[in-house]
Amino acid sequence: YTLEIPWGQSAEKGESMAVKIIGTGSALPKKVVSNEEMAGLVETSDQWIRERTGIGSRHISTGETVVSLAVEACEKALAHGDRKASEVQLILVATCTPEKGIPCAACQVQSLLGAAEAVAFDLNAACAGFLFALHTAHAYIEAGIYDNALVVGSEVLSKVVDWTDRGTCVLFGDGAGAVLLERSGQPGILGFVQHSDGTKGGVLQCDGRKLENPFVSLPVGNPFLSMDGREVFAFALRQVPACIWEALSQAKLSPEDVDLYVLHQANRRIIEGIAGRMNLEAARFPMNLERTGNMSSASIPVLLDELVREGRLQEGMTLVLSGFGAGLTYGACVLKWQRSLDFSGEIGIVKESVRGDRGAGKKVQAAGWGGTGIILSMRCW
Ligand code: COA
Repeated sequence: YTLEIPWGQSAEKGESMAVKIIGTGSALPKKVVSNEEMAGLVETSDQWIRERTGIGSRHISTGETVVSLAVEACEKALAHGDRKASEVQLILVATCTPEKGIPCAACQVQSLLGAAEAVAFDLNAACAGFLFALHTAHAYIEAGIYDNALVVGSEVLSKVVDWTDRGTCVLFGDGAGAVLLERSGQPGILGFVQHSDGTKGGVLQCDGRKLENPFVSLPVGNPFLSMDGREVFAFALRQVPACIWEALSQAKLSPEDVDLYVLHQANRRIIEGIAGRMNLEAARFPMNLERTGNMSSASIPVLLDELVREGRLQEGMTLVLSGFGAGLTYGACVLKWQRSLDFSGEIGIVKESVRGDRGAGKKVQAAGWGGTGIILSMRCW
């Protein structure tokens, strides 16, 4: 007899979940807003923001949308994974700041990408949204329903931030990150957990549209983000290490077995506190929040993409991803990194050319890339 285990179905939970990330991409708005500029808007200072959060600047939309940023991130992930949009079977966009109530952002992304065969829908779990979407796509692929998926975290939080509230407006930024998942013959995602605690929903919230129809008109709520920062801080320090432990035990690994912890980029003190509680050196917890602020669902995939493009992820590395935020929602995932970026695929479209517009609109291919991220040679066509 030969026993055939269908693609992706694990013999034992936690042993062989055969899904891997084959491409990553990210997109940030052009405008960078420094702490000094924030001090011109509200009563704050660069020193206060850096000391309490680790944030130095953030990207803020001057026209970029959840959809446009998501499309750019997806195009880069597809190029990195060397796949065409027409091959994509599932698109999940994690966002809590979509431009439109209807249709969902994922369907708009599908249309702009030209991913005609893909099923597309949004998922909102705030700052844990990307992680929850990753788990959802993973479950679809593992169940044999789809072969691949684009999983995106995209946010334009600047439209829900109260720009007069210094306690929140300094924390957030806009951006998008995407990963391309595909069924694999080797274990990729080794363990994952996710949790929700709706009883604590009031600590971080933002009201939607008011109910107004011919029969009732209810008062408008607060359409801007409001937050009990200390509660959120305490929740993250309490729950994130616990859920990482849970995912690690599912994967039968200890914290020391993990090369890098790619955590939601809310606050440097939160991340260092989590490292401390796990008795791990902070160097295992890469951060980009100094340049990006908290981008909610986009934080993890943007950081992941930056690590890939900086050449910091090598095949066989063990990573933990962990997201936490409004809901409250939190979760963690342990994965084996299976793809090292070879930079042989198309990496983007030339937006401007130093020689006038001769290169504009052309596709770019990097033939080689140094470990420091320098393009050694490029081909345009
Ligand atoms: N600039 C200067 N002062 C500020 C300020 C700012 N941007 N924001 C708040 N303050 C003031 C407060 O008004 C308070 O003043 P008071 O003592 O006169 O009342 C003082 O700083 C201390 O406020 P506190 O809330 O105790 O500060 P903190 O050390 O807890 O830091 C946060 C505040 C928001 C940075 C911190 O609680 C935090 O990061 N929480 C988690 C938030 C988060 O990550 N949310 C998203 C999760 S996904």
